[in-house]
Amino acid sequence: MNGMITRRAFMGGLAAASAAGLIAPFGALASEAVNELELLPSLRKVAETKGVYFGTAASPKVLSKDFAYRKAVSRECNLLVPENATKWAYLQPQRGKWDFTGADKLLSFAEENGIKMRGHTLLWYRGFPQWAEDDLKAGKGEALLEEHIHTVVSRYRGKFMSWDVVNEAIEPNDGLANGLRKSPWLAVFGPTYIDRAFQYAAEADPNCQLVYNDWGQESYGKRPEAILNLLRRLKDRGVPVHGVGIQAHLSTRWNFGPQQVTSFCRQVADMGLEVLITELDVSDAKLADDLVQRDEATAERMRIFLEAVSESVKPKQILTWGLSDRYSWLQESNSENPTGRAVRTLPLDRNYKRKAMWKVLHDYFRQLS
Ligand code: XIL
Repeated sequence: MNGMITRRAFMGGLAAASAAGLIAPFGALASEAVNELELLPSLRKVAETKGVYFGTAASPKVLSKDFAYRKAVSRECNLLVPENATKWAYLQPQRGKWDFTGADKLLSFAEENGIKMRGHTLLWYRGFPQWAEDDLKAGKGEALLEEHIHTVVSRYRGKFMSWDVVNEAIEPNDGLANGLRKSPWLAVFGPTYIDRAFQYAAEADPNCQLVYNDWGQESYGKRPEAILNLLRRLKDRGVPVHGVGIQAHLSTRWNFGPQQVTSFCRQVADMGLEVLITELDVSDAKLADDLVQRDEATAERMRIFLEAVSESVKPKQILTWGLSDRYSWLQESNSENPTGRAVRTLPLDRNYKRKAMWKVLHDYFRQLS
């Protein structure tokens, strides 16, 4: 258990913070406690002390137009992932027309601020332009995939420490025995399209960490097992996969299984793969409007999740999908925000003030050994 935090240590830490008047039970913030949070060392500082990374997804547009956000990201984060800028449709919106502007902007910002970067994502069934789908269906898939991955990964070789190579290839509801999602890539190549993507990425940057990223590892359904089975098959075939990204888009609308999370992480570690938490956030859909209650409920959901992870592994990279409620992707989501009210799903509020969720992350990092 060396290097891992125990349930008791994590809970104890929260209790100590609570006793110190910083947080009420379950992460609720008394209004006067909010200012206290601003005095604490940043998530970045604490993560750095523990030799791990805390990061966020970000968009180049927002970073260049919003100085306060820029400051918040460089204060709190030592890792950055493009929210969209390194998806296929952004990098090559038209055949032969590459556009690295957004990704390069993020990289300059990261380099100026001593922040590491990871890429997201080389192959996804969404964010994939029509022209490429047409080429794939016309039998040009192999060259297409190789060119895309070689070009993108080589450009950021030695600069991105990690890449989500394949995103969301599992969909048990599609009914296939191997749990794979029905996609144009699967139709053309069969399951080895995933192998190819990893191999091309490894050729382009042999030192980069190559990650399989997906959602629902915390769910009670068939997803966790289907993802583990895919990873086992990849390992058996000698595919260069090094880590598994757990997106962890949590919600107060449904319960997840902490024991699913612990067991998933343990099995990943047993395969010799690293666990990353890549897109953490907590939807506050359907909660009453009261801000303190919403912040309490989302923070508590995140605490339970991180505690479940800690039972079996100590991820080196934890990223939230956005840093401030002002720029959460869930704001526009019909299912997670049907009424369109201002969401409370991320560690900082709309004015970049630290919330109960921030404190949960802070406690989590602080108690790592
Ligand atoms: C989302 C972005 O946040 C949105 O801006 C975009 O419109 C759609 O994609 N899982 C993923 C991410 O792997 O790439 C998704 O990002 C969120 C769900």
